[in-house]
Amino acid sequence: MTATDPRIDRLNSATADLDAPLLAADVAAIDTNLAALVRRAGGTPIRVASKSVRVRAVLDRALATPGFAGIMAWSLREALWLECDDVLMGYPTVDRGALTQLASNDVAIQRIMLMVDSAAHLDLLEAVGPWASPPRVCLDVDASLRLGPAHIGVRRSPLRTPDDVVRLGRDASRRGMAVQGVMFYEAQIAGLPDSGRAVRWMKRKSAGELAYRRAAVVDALRDAVGPLRIVNSGGTGSLEVSAADPSVTEVTAGSGIFAPTLFDGYDAFTPAPALFFALPVVRTPTSRIATAFAGGYIASGPTGRSRVPSIVGPGRLLRAEGVGEVQTPIVGSGATLGDRVWFRHAKAGEVCERFDTVHLVENDNRTAVPTYRGEGRTFG
Ligand SMILES: Cc1ncc(COP(=O)(O)O)c(C=O)c1O
Repeated sequence: MTATDPRIDRLNSATADLDAPLLAADVAAIDTNLAALVRRAGGTPIRVASKSVRVRAVLDRALATPGFAGIMAWSLREALWLECDDVLMGYPTVDRGALTQLASNDVAIQRIMLMVDSAAHLDLLEAVGPWASPPRVCLDVDASLRLGPAHIGVRRSPLRTPDDVVRLGRDASRRGMAVQGVMFYEAQIAGLPDSGRAVRWMKRKSAGELAYRRAAVVDALRDAVGPLRIVNSGGTGSLEVSAADPSVTEVTAGSGIFAPTLFDGYDAFTPAPALFFALPVVRTPTSRIATAFAGGYIASGPTGRSRVPSIVGPGRLLRAEGVGEVQTPIVGSGATLGDRVWFRHAKAGEVCERFDTVHLVENDNRTAVPTYRGEGRTFG
């Protein structure tokens, strides 16, 4: 993609009267991505991961797309704030205030399923009671791959085997909680670009191991606690693999909607970049360098080049400075004062914490919608 990319030209002209820095999204690209996610899920419903969106209007657009159902929230305060009647917490919470609020609100209890992975989580749920009705819980199961002593994947849950999961499920049932779900997030497949043969081999190996273990866990848990409403798995990078397992009732995706740079390198899909930010040139220290305002929006995760915003154009980053807290020098752009330089972020939701507004551009129309931050909300 270059600065003369027709998509950037469209965003540029649709936002020409606005001052930068600004965040803009191409609605046609969002819709293309939503359709591709649904196609890849092959009929398995998709829960939208709100952390990778952080814009309510875009979450609503996903939920209005046939094939999507429900939100995966990352914070309980967020889940209480969202007006959605089907929210699965993707992560456990120790937020006593939010849990106390949930416990006293029967409507919210029916809307929000909590994530737990240990007896300590259950202790906390008991401690914040009494509950207006039984809290609904989903058990998070470690979906990483073990190769000998090597742990490949993320560090999440201590639950791994059918026995581990059954023990906690029975404990929760005994305490009067409603065990309604189980989740497996295979980050080493979903969140890792296909960067070489070793990665592709590891992903195949992991998918095989997980398909077997996931089915065994689900069967054992159903036997122990009764029917489950949710068997959740996957993320943007693994939809077809996760959905292929018949024990999975739903998959999750968020990043694939805005398609940040970390999702450029997968074999199975090529999403359309949909979210861009523009920085204004504020000075020109030499004839070859134009310096733009702000831009140092580094993404989370292991630090390195993959976490740095990518310049779309015009020009290229000055390696010695990179993207800066308050200024970003650009080489060879030919840009002068007031011109814009366009970028993509490495992650989808995080850049929305930098802007109040996203400008949704569709044909020649532009609609300004608030990010979570623009609604005065940040959830961590
Ligand atoms: C529990 C869980 N499910 C799914 C996902 C996938 O989200 P995305 O599609 O945005 O990569 C994540 C991402 O971290 C996650 O933590």
